[in-house]
Amino acid sequence: MRTSLHSALALATVSALAQYTPTVPVDNRTLSEIYAAARREHTSNTTRPFQVFWGGDAGSQGDGIRSAWAQQFPDIPLNLTVILSKYADTRLDEAFYEGTEEPPADVVALQTLHDFPRWKTQNRLVYYKPSNFEDVLVNERDADGAFLAFAVYSFGTIYFDSSKISADEVPTSFESFGDAKWKGKLILTYPNDDDAVAYLFSLIVSRYGFSWLRALAANDVQWVRGTGTPIFELERLHNDTTSTRALTFSAGSGIEASWGVSKAVEPPENIMSWPQTAAIIAGTPQPETAKLFISWLTSNGQQNGSSPSLLTSLNEANGVSPYSSNTTIFSGFRTFETDRAQVEWWKNVFEEALGTPQGPDPLAVYPNPSA
Ligand SMILES: *[C@@H]1O[C@H](CO)[C@@H](O)[C@H](O)[C@H]1NC(C)=O
Ligand SMILES: *[C@@H]1O[C@H](CO)[C@@H](O)[C@H](O)[C@H]1NC(C)=O
Ligand SMILES: *[C@@H]1O[C@H](CO)[C@@H](O)[C@H](O)[C@H]1NC(C)=O
Ligand SMILES: *[C@@H]1O[C@H](CO)[C@@H](O)[C@H](O)[C@H]1NC(C)=O
Ligand SMILES: *[C@@H]1O[C@H](CO)[C@@H](O)[C@H](O)[C@H]1NC(C)=O
Ligand SMILES: *[C@@H]1O[C@H](CO)[C@@H](O)[C@H](O)[C@H]1NC(C)=O
Repeated sequence: MRTSLHSALALATVSALAQYTPTVPVDNRTLSEIYAAARREHTSNTTRPFQVFWGGDAGSQGDGIRSAWAQQFPDIPLNLTVILSKYADTRLDEAFYEGTEEPPADVVALQTLHDFPRWKTQNRLVYYKPSNFEDVLVNERDADGAFLAFAVYSFGTIYFDSSKISADEVPTSFESFGDAKWKGKLILTYPNDDDAVAYLFSLIVSRYGFSWLRALAANDVQWVRGTGTPIFELERLHNDTTSTRALTFSAGSGIEASWGVSKAVEPPENIMSWPQTAAIIAGTPQPETAKLFISWLTSNGQQNGSSPSLLTSLNEANGVSPYSSNTTIFSGFRTFETDRAQVEWWKNVFEEALGTPQGPDPLAVYPNPSA
């Protein structure tokens, strides 16, 4: 099974073909030079904030970027909207087909890797190569500069409330989560509501079989929408001694509390990880600001601190690589996400076992701050 997956992955390519692609040079301006151009653009041409669609499922997931931008580029107001990637692309597509003058976002940063090649072939992306372009992992950028990855995201780390469960008890594989021991303890994201979680579940079910999924479905899991929600729920229930909810493996980041702990799975178990990808949308009235945003996301300052990062030189300096992990196949999600028939097949497997996702858009529950 692993072998056939690996050979399938060898076919995955990042670059998309378009009939005509202009050759754009690498932008060798410094961030402060681009900032100066963006400031001129902002003051002379527009009063609107710069619009970004930031794939995610809780408004607070944009806070780090919002405050770092405001600190470094205070003269350019940023309206960064955290939005489910699968809704961000829909909004862009609808605006495109309706022929609106300005796209609803100037830059997008999304999980839906299958959109970018299509948008490129539809001539809807601005070709742009930031100064670090050649340093961005070659398999994670479009060779012509239509889109590029800027971050490694992942799901599959186990997060738990250490006041309700001891670290020794937390397993390093997903295999046992259908056992009675875990009844009423898990909070998980519907895999049929988020393609990245669907991919994680496809790996687990491929390893342990459909019986694993059926046992999990019968184990009183609290199924939620959004990957931020499990952590918010663990936090909300932490002081509730009547609640046995104690762990999740479908969340993207840690618990900001003394009792919240994470545990990594061990080989041969696999988590999923992927290159979150950004592009500039054609028709943006703020192209210089868009270039600043992309250059900044891929700058050493932003990339340094992520391990692994999207920059080859930093990874070499730190002796890490997203490709050499023994618990994730970094290129797997691109293959999965691009094969929509496979995604739909898995979603139907999950729907049959778990039902359709219930509840409102998680961004209605955990909204963006008002711009
Ligand atoms: C930047 O690129 C331009 C055009 O490629 C080149 O003429 C210029 O010398 C470069 N500047 C620096 C500082 O490398
Ligand atoms: C203002 O916008 C126009 C048209 O999009 C563009 O040609 C011009 O360079 C912009 N001005 C500045 C200062 O960016
Ligand atoms: C911020 O973006 C959201 C989502 O596109 C939009 O509804 C809102 O009007 C924008 N706010 C400003 C001030 O641009
Ligand atoms: C839980 O209780 C602690 C004090 O015992 C308090 O600081 C914390 O805010 C409470 N958390 C919630 C989610 O109510
Ligand atoms: C990354 O950060 C470390 C620690 O702050 C620093 O020593 C190093 O010079 C930085 N590297 C780059 C390429 O910015
Ligand atoms: C997997 O990688 C981790 C981190 O690099 C290492 O500590 C561990 O020994 C490796 N396990 C196996 C089975 O290779």
